[in-house]
Amino acid sequence: MHHFQYQNNALYCEDVPVADIAANLGTPLFIYSHATLTRHFQAFDKAFGDVDHIICYSAKANTNGAILKMFADMGTGLDVVSGGELHRGLKAGIPANKIAYAGVGKTQDEIDLALNSGILMFNVESFEELQAINARAKALGKKAPISLRVNPNVDAKTHPYISTGMKKNKFGIAKEAVVEAYKAAHELDSTEVVGIDFHIGSQITQVGPFVEAMESVKSLAAELKGMGIGINYLDVGGGLGINYDDEEPPEPDEYAKAICKVIADFPITVVLEPGRAMVGNAGIMVTRFLYLKEGATKNFIIVDAGMNDLIRPSIYGAFHLIQPVNKREGDPLTGDVVGPICESTDFLAKDREIGAVVPGDLLAVMSAGAYGFAMSSNYNSRPRACEVMVKGNAFEVIRQRENYEDLTRGEVIPTFL
Ligand code: LLP
Repeated sequence: MHHFQYQNNALYCEDVPVADIAANLGTPLFIYSHATLTRHFQAFDKAFGDVDHIICYSAKANTNGAILKMFADMGTGLDVVSGGELHRGLKAGIPANKIAYAGVGKTQDEIDLALNSGILMFNVESFEELQAINARAKALGKKAPISLRVNPNVDAKTHPYISTGMKKNKFGIAKEAVVEAYKAAHELDSTEVVGIDFHIGSQITQVGPFVEAMESVKSLAAELKGMGIGINYLDVGGGLGINYDDEEPPEPDEYAKAICKVIADFPITVVLEPGRAMVGNAGIMVTRFLYLKEGATKNFIIVDAGMNDLIRPSIYGAFHLIQPVNKREGDPLTGDVVGPICESTDFLAKDREIGAVVPGDLLAVMSAGAYGFAMSSNYNSRPRACEVMVKGNAFEVIRQRENYEDLTRGEVIPTFL
């Protein structure tokens, strides 16, 4: 459920007409709904109810400081994958002891920042990284809290580019090798084993793969306990899918039930890392229809947002529903919705019927709150879009549109030119 609904054929975000925001701030534009973000957090939190849990929102889905602050105020932790995300999280007021740090390529500087901040745990992805963290902790006179990320070799049944829990993926430590890695971690003098972690992929639309991964990790936790290696946290990653088209992903309730059932007899704090499910349907991208180009074989509906603004259709063939911001009478238009970038992969939709629209109209690209702005770039020297948050009948800019000066900021002409 989200708060982008039509009233008298005009799309609203909560109580504000989307067209009013676009008239004020131009396009392309990302709009996020405060009520939807709140609702998604509450749905997760309630679903896990009395089970000890920490929701570590996965920052990578949307790192805007206002969204991070909202989540911080609601009491979430954060899943980060870089020093930059850690910095943003701390700046937004997320307590360090609720921050889990994943990623296969943590640098020395990033490890130091995490150690000095006092994070909840490092989710360690290789034996080599374990040694590096231990060495840095020793140098800084600290003990590093660590979980090992297990690669359970589970097929998440999602797009191969966002599947992470199979042998062929670069993530985690193979389940066959993980007991040895735990033994090694246990013996190191500057690390402290606190948990187990997995993350099998993203946009997962059934509970089966989660349960399969849980079962395998649970037996590992029992084995470790038998060896005197205590585990306080079970980090189940993120990955719960959302509805973009006709998917019917499990609700947080069903997901929570499936997870909690596996660990019912196992006293442990569950760490959750939802990203997409928290922010995906809480945001839309608004773009303006510029030109209708009637090509030899199809229509090109040319809009002012490109793959630099929303890259998901280009790289994953992802579906985003596109609809008119103000519905009008007339014949629906079908075609490829394309942007101004000089690449044939610059499309938001292929052969799509998008309703009765004419050049000049605004279009809403739905479910763009996750991996939308966060993956945007300045390709083709396009300033990045503006981001806005709506609460009730109020809206405020939460990131200004970039201007041409921003494009060259940081560039230096060398003295020898
Ligand atoms: N935890 C870890 C360790 C992750 O790598 C990810 C996502 C998450 C949590 C959050 O997963 P979520 O709940 O959002 O599925 N750019 C792609 C998605 C890449 C996801 C990468 N890792 C897309 O636009 O579909």
